[in-house]
Amino acid sequence: MKEGNGTRLFINEVATRDGFQMESRFIPTEDKIALIDRLGGLGYTKIEVTSFTSAKAIPALRDGEEVMNRIARRPGVVYTALVPNVRGAQRALESRIDEFNIVMSASETHNLANLRMTREQSFAQLADVIGLAKHAGVPVNVSLSCVFGCPMEGEVPLAAVRGWIDRFAALDVQGITLCDTTGMAYPTQVGEICEAVMASHPALEWTAHFHNTRGMGLVNTVAAVEAGMRRLDMSLGGIGGCPYAPGATGNVATEDVVHMLQCMGYDTGMDLAGLVGTAVALEALLQHDLPAQVSRAGHRLTRHAPPPDFNDIVARARQRGLATKELQP
Ligand code: COA
Ligand code: ZN
Repeated sequence: MKEGNGTRLFINEVATRDGFQMESRFIPTEDKIALIDRLGGLGYTKIEVTSFTSAKAIPALRDGEEVMNRIARRPGVVYTALVPNVRGAQRALESRIDEFNIVMSASETHNLANLRMTREQSFAQLADVIGLAKHAGVPVNVSLSCVFGCPMEGEVPLAAVRGWIDRFAALDVQGITLCDTTGMAYPTQVGEICEAVMASHPALEWTAHFHNTRGMGLVNTVAAVEAGMRRLDMSLGGIGGCPYAPGATGNVATEDVVHMLQCMGYDTGMDLAGLVGTAVALEALLQHDLPAQVSRAGHRLTRHAPPPDFNDIVARARQRGLATKELQP
């Protein structure tokens, strides 16, 4: 029996936030909206549309309000966005957001570099954001960066990660995303951390978020799912990365992860052919090659034509009397 055995997994797309924040060319607002509308029909649970960050910090997403206000809202899809502070939360609320994806780092150095605040200052801002969200009836997910390591500090102690998770859980957030911001995670560590945090807060909605910086993104995904994670962030084409984390590269690619999980027998709810078609369109939009592989190689059962001289090869094989039974007419 296949390992996944039909287990339902929930797929979140982050290309239009984690991906676009890293693009040097500004993607026109119309193109962002058209892409999100196309993604909306492919089976996602959640789409991270944009971020409500400062335009100085993330110029690529300075059109957050317009994008959020003009996308088509598909029933069943949660349209979320990254929110770093109260100002961002106010902008998000004005844009009719479905969920706040609030962000801080488990590493002090990365939090300072990325958000220009200490972790305590971030937590105080985010506690106010959670208050605003409760008042407005908007659910809150916490994306905790550098859970599996920090590119500037190295190992991040599990006790620190757990400490921040406990503090957010005490504020009744709906979910927490464990982010491997620069692809430092490895499978045994992923299993250990996922199991530990999920056991201490089983009622929270848990999500795993991997970057493929060291080629371990897919195997880390399997480790997370085997540890019980059912929600996964990923980015079409494998684009993405935090501009304030040295050495950051793209997320695990949606088409690669979905292809793998479907082969393993998991129910992703995703339209893989639609993903591949949209990845091809995304590559044209971004005007550069994308790191994903399945959109180039095709499904594992994609059948290729034999070589052009195949009939001659078969005829010669028969002449030599070496033809197998299958080659007999
Ligand atoms: N949206 C828009 N503008 C914002 C903002 C927000 N959420 N938060 C602050 N600003 C504006 C302020 O109004 C101020 O504008 P002004 O210069 O015209 O007066 C300016 O940004 C500076 O405000 P300040 O509160 O001092 O922010 P900061 O410079 O210390 O930056 C953050 C703090 C959090 C806003 C900024 O670091 C940020 O947006 N980081 C996001 C990084 C990110 O998204 N990384 C990738 C994802 S992990
Ligand atoms: Zn990321």
